[in-house]
Amino acid sequence: MSHYAPGLEGVIAGQTAICTVGREGNDLLYRGYSIIDLCGKNVPWEEVAFMLIWNRRATPAEADQFRRAIVSHRDIPDALKRALESLPATTKPMDVLRTGWSFLGNLFPEESTDEDGIVSRIVASGPTIIAWWYNHHRGRKTRLDYPHADQGGYFLHALNGKMPTDDERKLMNTSMILYSEHAFNASTFTARVVTSTLSDTWSALVAAVGALKGPLHGGANEEAMRLILQFGTPDDAERGVMEMLTRKEKIMGFGHRAYKVRDPRSDLIKHWALKLAEANRDLPHMAIAQRIDAVMAREKKMFPNTDFYHAPAYHMMDIPIPLFTPIFAFARTAGWLAHIREQRAENRLIRPTEEYTGPEKREW
Ligand code: COA
Repeated sequence: MSHYAPGLEGVIAGQTAICTVGREGNDLLYRGYSIIDLCGKNVPWEEVAFMLIWNRRATPAEADQFRRAIVSHRDIPDALKRALESLPATTKPMDVLRTGWSFLGNLFPEESTDEDGIVSRIVASGPTIIAWWYNHHRGRKTRLDYPHADQGGYFLHALNGKMPTDDERKLMNTSMILYSEHAFNASTFTARVVTSTLSDTWSALVAAVGALKGPLHGGANEEAMRLILQFGTPDDAERGVMEMLTRKEKIMGFGHRAYKVRDPRSDLIKHWALKLAEANRDLPHMAIAQRIDAVMAREKKMFPNTDFYHAPAYHMMDIPIPLFTPIFAFARTAGWLAHIREQRAENRLIRPTEEYTGPEKREW
């Protein structure tokens, strides 16, 4: 007899060979490769994505071919550009991304597009969709002529129209690696549920974007920045967070269902955030963030998750707060596509059972 677990906590809902989260309390491995190793060696995100999606490391020739496919698919069809321009400036960026990918799915349906083409188009197009819509409403041109293959640097260039520094590119590469994959999280599980009905990749992708948008999932990095910006000094932050805890409010960017010791991604992104803060002389936000971190450790024995230090890191690179979650989505295309392929290979319709709590049988 199965028992009800709210939020499916502790329920094994499938098997996967893609990723392990927190097996030792504070580790994250992509097909056996530790994120500490991948980030420490600054492996290009595009190669990590290839490895996750196709379940093997790319040969140099394959890596080169994948990079060229990504670069060639960065430009999006004119029809999509016009559609993006017709969306109001007030649209939520995650809704823009959802609409953009849904639109592309109509132009390149799975029945008539090869799998490689769909994969590279999905991986390549996210940054262009967001930058194009965002810049259009600010009367700015979107630069598509970034000369390198890294998607993180490409997004900064397309968005702000200027060449990112080496450290900014490395920070973005680290960020993209950290956001690539995370096992059966809500958006990935959503993609697997859609795939299990034998629906198409684009539909699974669009559904996953919808799940990622929520503040308990991808939206936490945006909320963390709004929190940091509320305070003028570390002392203000300490007072404010103490008051929030008294009111039993949640502090965004803290806590995690799967990590019991520490979120290993947090220190990796914090390292780059600190480095950039020193280079930009933008230390106040980091000082506030670090004080909030210290208060949460002292009061709640809670550690920051990956979203917390992503917030000041993105902010220092002039990325507007509402665009934080789309970057998470650009990176997570790797994990989603890997899970869609894995679900298809061993498919069984995902259809759990439920506990009925309504009225007993009665007459109309
Ligand atoms: N700030 C303050 N208290 C928190 C907290 C936070 N960020 N996260 C959890 N808690 C507290 C809860 O209030 C609860 O306390 P209680 O037992 O006294 O009621 C307890 O810790 C368990 O919280 P719960 O929400 O049941 O844990 P969960 O495993 O369901 O949730 C998260 C995990 C990530 C959804 C949750 O920690 C959260 O909402 N964090 C903020 C959002 C966030 O950063 N999300 C990004 C995840 S990568």
